[in-house]
Amino acid sequence: MFDTMTLTKAGGALCGTLLVFLLGNWAAEILYATEAGGHGGEEYQQAYVIETGEEDAGAAEEEGPDFATLLASADAAAGAKVFSKCKACHKIDGSNATGPHLDGVVNRAVGTVDGFSYSGAMAAVFDTWTPEHLNTFLESPKGAAPGTKMSFSGLKKAEDRANLVAYLESLGG
Ligand code: HEC
Repeated sequence: MFDTMTLTKAGGALCGTLLVFLLGNWAAEILYATEAGGHGGEEYQQAYVIETGEEDAGAAEEEGPDFATLLASADAAAGAKVFSKCKACHKIDGSNATGPHLDGVVNRAVGTVDGFSYSGAMAAVFDTWTPEHLNTFLESPKGAAPGTKMSFSGLKKAEDRANLVAYLESLGG
């Protein structure tokens, strides 16, 4: 039979062993936690590097050369390809379709092709189709001439517009 003293000793030994385990665990956790914290810190730093908005601001400022400069080095052959977006509505043989014919359109007075029924919206904004005006109009037809019946969303790239105007110029009248 166990007496009280034996039980107390056994209990004490058990508690001591548990205490050593607990302390060991605790020490290990501190070491582990310190290491993990270090890694976490590095990750946060990287996240900040990625999120700075400076790159965007730089890109927005850099608009590229102005239209006259682009036009001076424009490629009419590339413009002929861009014109495939206009062919559904515009002919270049002197006849009208959904839109008025576009031969000789560069420096032509706005809205003056015989036999075409214009909306009047373009003439309210522009007088002559100079390269500059074509550039403005073709970037966003409905934005530049509100109410126009030309249903075309626009050419977003300045290079495309310059090449296209060079092509239209090469068609003559
Ligand atoms: C969905 C048909 C459609 C497409 C596509 C289209 N246009 Fe037009 N365009 C029209 C119509 C319709 C008008 C007449 C608009 C008005 O009277 O408001 C017009 C007018 C114009 C005018 C004015 C001509 C003038 O006599 O004053 C120009 C320049 C022009 N378009 C160029 C283009 C070019 C370049 C493209 C291709 C990038 C293009 N359009 C694509 C239908 C179209």
